[in-house]
Amino acid sequence: MIIAVDGPAASGKGTIGRALAEHYGLPHLDTGLLYRAVGIAVLRHGGNPENHADAVKACDFSTAMLDDPEIRSEAASRAASAVSAHKDVRAALLERQRAFARQPGGAVLDGRDIGTVIAPEADAKLFVTASPAVRAERRFAELTKRGVHVMLDHVLHDIEARDARDSGRSVAPLIQAPDADLLDTTNLTIGDAVRQAISLVEAQVKP
Ligand code: DC
Repeated sequence: MIIAVDGPAASGKGTIGRALAEHYGLPHLDTGLLYRAVGIAVLRHGGNPENHADAVKACDFSTAMLDDPEIRSEAASRAASAVSAHKDVRAALLERQRAFARQPGGAVLDGRDIGTVIAPEADAKLFVTASPAVRAERRFAELTKRGVHVMLDHVLHDIEARDARDSGRSVAPLIQAPDADLLDTTNLTIGDAVRQAISLVEAQVKP
């Protein structure tokens, strides 16, 4: 069984993806990590994530980079969003993600284009959203807990800028697949969001 979970930053898609993977005993891939690793590799080489050649050169990053704490930083988020707009970067990461999705037994993948591009054949598809204000509060709480000093309105501004970029790009923009179920987590606890995600998946995979 392949489960595709897409949605914007801090919508809860990562938490939901992990919970679904655990529930069904499937491997899970947070595909944002791949774009973050490319973004960090560009920054480490002194390149510009918006520059096509710099971004493409960074695509053969080492997978060791995926464990780096820096991968969760806001700088990595911004660089990831910038490199992910290049068509050739998306092409370079495509096979890795498809191979993960198509492993025997299936998998859960979360990202922006799983249900539309990476695994359009997925057995279940969710599109997870929440209001920008709530997503900013979640990200703010997470950063503050990690000891990162930020201002809530800066976080909100960053989230809105990233939404506009991820949804507005010409290649594989963030959009809900026509056959995906919408799950709005704005007013849900994590437990309720996970329970609703499981029932939506159950309803989709039912013959
Ligand atoms: O999910 P995330 O915040 O870790 O993703 C970081 C960036 O990577 C995001 O702004 C857009 C990009 N991304 C993408 O374009 N496609 C994916 N499948 C996953 C992430």
